[in-house]
Amino acid sequence: MKQTFGLMTLACTLLMGCGGQDSSLNLTADQEQQVAARIAPIGHVNMAGQVVLAAAGAGTAERSGSDIYGTNCMACHTTGVAGAPMMGDVGAWAARLTQGIEVVYTNAINGIRGMPMRGTCMDCSDSEVKAAIDHILNNSK
Ligand code: HEC
Repeated sequence: MKQTFGLMTLACTLLMGCGGQDSSLNLTADQEQQVAARIAPIGHVNMAGQVVLAAAGAGTAERSGSDIYGTNCMACHTTGVAGAPMMGDVGAWAARLTQGIEVVYTNAINGIRGMPMRGTCMDCSDSEVKAAIDHILNNSK
């Protein structure tokens, strides 16, 4: 598990200190490991030949739109914080969609006004963010 430790150290360095007193990121050991697995270059993982890391590092297990929504988007999009269009508000979403679905996706991925980049899901892939948006849209028509 020497490589795992190395990756975790790298992840910690990149995150500017794990568990440090003044760190704004207080990750649990589990979360640190997930981060380490996610940022591990695929080639390195393959060389390491560790089944656990390879499975996590490949990042193929995509989370569902409703999972992402429940974890990252709900706080704002069920309450309308800062003018966030609410899930279920058919009119509000229809108005957003007049700019085209691709623009809506891009705005959510890059962030726009009160909408934070990726809706704060910094470890979400583009397609995971899109799945969360699709989840909102499917429940708003
Ligand atoms: C901190 C609050 C907050 C969180 C968390 C958040 N949003 Fe938003 N979102 C907003 C606000 C505010 C707007 C409206 C921005 C504007 O147009 O002024 C918005 C707008 C949007 C839009 C419309 C973009 C457009 O082009 O009109 C989409 C799509 C969206 N959010 C998706 C998501 C998804 C998906 C997540 C979770 C991964 C998420 N949001 C998490 C606050 C949030």
